[in-house]
Amino acid sequence: MTGPLTCHRRGPLRGAITVPGDKSISHRSILFGTLATGETRVTGILDAEDVHSTRRACAALGASIREEGGEVIVTPPETLKEPGDVIDCGNSGTSLRLLAGVLAGVPGLSVLTGDASLRRRPVRRVVDPLRVMGADLTARDGDRVPPLVIRGRALRGARHDLKVASAQVKSAILLAGLRAEGETVVVEPERSRDHTERMLRGMGVPVRVDGLTVSVTPSRLRGTRVDVPGDISSAAFFLCGAAALPGSEVTVRGLGTNPTRTGLLDVLRAMGASVTLAGEREVAGEPRADVTVKAADLVATEIRGDIIPRLIDELPVIMVMATQARGRTVIRDARELRVKESDRLAAMGETLAAAGARIELFEDGCAIEGPVRLSGVAVRTRLDHRIAMSMAIAQLLAGAPVHLDDVACVATSFPSFFRLLDGLTGADR
Ligand code: S3P
Repeated sequence: MTGPLTCHRRGPLRGAITVPGDKSISHRSILFGTLATGETRVTGILDAEDVHSTRRACAALGASIREEGGEVIVTPPETLKEPGDVIDCGNSGTSLRLLAGVLAGVPGLSVLTGDASLRRRPVRRVVDPLRVMGADLTARDGDRVPPLVIRGRALRGARHDLKVASAQVKSAILLAGLRAEGETVVVEPERSRDHTERMLRGMGVPVRVDGLTVSVTPSRLRGTRVDVPGDISSAAFFLCGAAALPGSEVTVRGLGTNPTRTGLLDVLRAMGASVTLAGEREVAGEPRADVTVKAADLVATEIRGDIIPRLIDELPVIMVMATQARGRTVIRDARELRVKESDRLAAMGETLAAAGARIELFEDGCAIEGPVRLSGVAVRTRLDHRIAMSMAIAQLLAGAPVHLDDVACVATSFPSFFRLLDGLTGADR
């Protein structure tokens, strides 16, 4: 789906679905498979534009990636080759930042760029620590934003104390560390998602984790099998919608429940929604479960501190849900939202205010007073998939049409979003 779209569905949301594979794990399965010896076989991979960006980049480095009977098979090259052209990471910050960590240590010249959204996103957070390891990287506007030019060289391990909890930065450094001399140590202020640590271990790399400290020494990766669970960041739209829309009950089967990603479930419970997990299991190092959320009279809550990295991508739709909760929901310590695919605090703040929400913005968060009956609104989606999908959920709460100026961005992470939403609202019956 591309171009403008006016949404006018009616709730409640009812039904059981599976959502597409986790985006973070999907990127890593292809990239780490490219770095390994032997094949990596992936089931449940996310088929969306962001992952296609990683896939194209890995093909440019010499990997062969093919589909066979529902599996994606990554065959790594003997040695990574210098890409023959600029690598376009599209909208995907994860592709660009993780690749920077890999390419810093691979002989040859690489140039990484992306779409207008990605070319506004900060890269100094990877440039600075990789330089400490001896890397040669240069970016536009005083090393602030892509394109990023990398001349691969020999690296040395170092200790990095990160100022922000970022799995992309942590992963870039660890990937560089796998090719560096000596030990590479990353200390985070709060724990960010640990998919890199889990998958590297599954590929035979001895990753040491001690509290907020992660370290690696030079290692080869072994090809493996990856089974990607459903993406909680995609399920979040339906789970938050279900919590807030009277009469709703949604089950998402096979949903990833890695504890570094489940802050949303804690918030749903704190706001009074009924959340149940069934069939909890771990496959290929990543936990998953069938998660059911039922509507409730929601109450406001406070979301701050070390829960923030555990729900960072879910905050736009949590803001939508908060408009329906009784009292003042406060979100703080979420400055990172300003450097995502768009400035999500500004985008959601302006858009929800235009839809009648009572919202106060802070530099690092917001306060939302509810409950409020939202009205219809015209939304500028700003090349940001999560703004578009959050406002499609807001439309159900408004019960009035919401106009999205361009929904092409939804395909970066969740091409089947509107189809699943139709199924849950009964619009396709
Ligand atoms: C991701 C990490 C997070 C998240 C992004 C995916 C990853 O970004 O917002 O959608 O796969 O490592 P940061 O590392 O910038 O927090």
